[in-house]
Amino acid sequence: MRRSIGSKPAHAETPWRDKHLLGLEDLSRGEIESILDRAEHHANRSAQSREKSQALKGRIVFNLFFESSTRTRTSFSLAAKRLSADTQDFSPSGSSLSKGESFIDTARNLEAMGADILVVRHPTPGTPKLLAEHVASAVVNAGDGAHEHPTQALLDLLTIRRAKKTIEGLTVGLLGDIAHSRVARSNIWGLTKLGAKVILCGPPTLVPRGWERLGCEVAHHLDDVLPRCDVVNVLRIQFERQHAGLFPSIGEYSHFYMMTQERVKRARPDFLLLAPGPINRGVELTPEVADGRHSAILDQVSNGLAVRMAVLEMLTSHTGPARDGGE
Ligand code: CP
Repeated sequence: MRRSIGSKPAHAETPWRDKHLLGLEDLSRGEIESILDRAEHHANRSAQSREKSQALKGRIVFNLFFESSTRTRTSFSLAAKRLSADTQDFSPSGSSLSKGESFIDTARNLEAMGADILVVRHPTPGTPKLLAEHVASAVVNAGDGAHEHPTQALLDLLTIRRAKKTIEGLTVGLLGDIAHSRVARSNIWGLTKLGAKVILCGPPTLVPRGWERLGCEVAHHLDDVLPRCDVVNVLRIQFERQHAGLFPSIGEYSHFYMMTQERVKRARPDFLLLAPGPINRGVELTPEVADGRHSAILDQVSNGLAVRMAVLEMLTSHTGPARDGGE
């Protein structure tokens, strides 16, 4: 493991103990808040200026995405560029994985090219942790199966905090396919650590049994839950992770769980609507609700850039000085 030497930048005062970001389960409330504070700084700065920071000058960030992505991959890449890092996408298709090279050997070869940070998305839970055990670079989990998606939850937290000024004491409903959602798991860790009440709402087949143990309330009737929520985070039905029909039809799912204008009228007047994306209009929410006045869906995307800048920057405080003396 590389040791940090030389003078540290101001943001290195974070109490973040690890050199990796594998999940919010591992972070303390203070660590989460320090990331959000730094992301807030980047969000405010980006609103005023497009001028690049030099914080990651001389660093190399690799994106290794073994699943499809629009938001996460592009915003990690853009975040690295905004901090003056060199970035490179690695795609499994067309790589030597098809010739039998292992995932770890692939990562080690990218590291031999100078990677400081490996951002990884993979369908298998635990892959980022496995990678972190085998490389010297910092590893960021960009989504591992149904396990965790920490930067998505951080951007959700930042969006809530910017809109509501606080997270402590809020009631947040996570709606839909909880069972297959890494976003749900990371949100549960983050929201409960920051003092929110979390209600998991969906059909019984999509809400795992026993999750009350994580400090959440479990509910199956959206119309009962909605008037209590300050925030509703609408999760996508993850058909790609379902191996059996878990509800009779999309039409029936939508009848009971889709966010419609009628349901919005019964919600709190100032409730905030989130959705991690991609959204399926007409399945989890109607187009009017997705584009309506309660929706912060595109704010989430903007805040995602600020969160990823904060995460990349704070991880470099663990990886030592850049090779060419950047920072
Ligand atoms: N929310 C999210 O992770 O989106 P992508 O799959 O497009 O990265």
